[in-house]
Amino acid sequence: MPFPAQRLRRTRRTGGLRGLVRETELSPSDFIYPIFVIAGEDVRNPISSMPGIFQLSINHAVEEAKRAYSLGISGVLLFGIPREKDEAASGAYDPEGVVQLATRAIKDAAPELLVVGDVCLCEYTSHGHCGIVDRELGEVLNDVSLELLARTASTQAEAGVDVVAPSDMMDGRVAAIRAELDREGFEQTPIMAYSAKYASAFYGPFREAAESAPQFGDRRGYQMDPANAREALRETELDIEEGADIVMVKPALPYLDVLRRVRERTDLPVAAYNVSGEYSMLKAAAGNGWLDEERAVMEALTGIKRAGADIIISYHAPDVARWLQK
Ligand code: PBG
Repeated sequence: MPFPAQRLRRTRRTGGLRGLVRETELSPSDFIYPIFVIAGEDVRNPISSMPGIFQLSINHAVEEAKRAYSLGISGVLLFGIPREKDEAASGAYDPEGVVQLATRAIKDAAPELLVVGDVCLCEYTSHGHCGIVDRELGEVLNDVSLELLARTASTQAEAGVDVVAPSDMMDGRVAAIRAELDREGFEQTPIMAYSAKYASAFYGPFREAAESAPQFGDRRGYQMDPANAREALRETELDIEEGADIVMVKPALPYLDVLRRVRERTDLPVAAYNVSGEYSMLKAAAGNGWLDEERAVMEALTGIKRAGADIIISYHAPDVARWLQK
């Protein structure tokens, strides 16, 4: 009788068997690729902390979206950088705002590519917070913000987004957005809710890309404490009660335990956001020759899928799709 361990190794050592016994396989269709769309003509600004990622004006965003589509990536997630920011975040819900215009252009160029709209105010407020701020109180006003977030979602739906993704973390936003979408005739537009969104240092590079670093205070009043996992389950349950169609955990790699627990709690699709800082770390190490980029990225992303993600939002998506085609 061979030892059980030997039996395990036989399946590893027999080359052709490895593929058959592999439990987790990445595919380009697992991915949503975030794109930063900036107002203006013919702009292509590199983001220094995210090698390979750019702020793109609409014409370039369309090209990037077409490239993603041709690689078999399921969708793009659009973040907008408006020409001007103000206290009321007007650019977010402007029917001619940068995300709304980009959505129309991308849906024209690649109708089958999913367009997901980021619903948040931080890229549009002059202070960089995710909601409207009462300067005297120095506080984010939850309920006033809800109204504007709901308008942001409905103008995006009007422009043709397939999914709205609220990333703001205001209380009650999923219900507010659902009600507004239904009222405006967008009963069929799903909500992908950032349900477990942690107050994370790994958003640093994104804030450079989206020009959305808060100018005072931080986001700990509305984002979650990294030390808490049970709280994430409560947040997720609330979002589901309010009508979320897909729930998300963000960031991904430091929170794989949370991802797994959310996966076990709900039968809804679960998304994981492999955020900017997670991307930058691997790019930096690979750029220095300290890690094999392809192997490290594939290993990290396979881990996210193995932990339970149905959908992976990642800046690595086009690279992964290319590697998978080989
Ligand atoms: C906005 C938002 C953030 C990210 C997605 N939506 C930043 C933040 O909350 O500060 C981060 C994504 C990333 O780091 O890639 N609310």
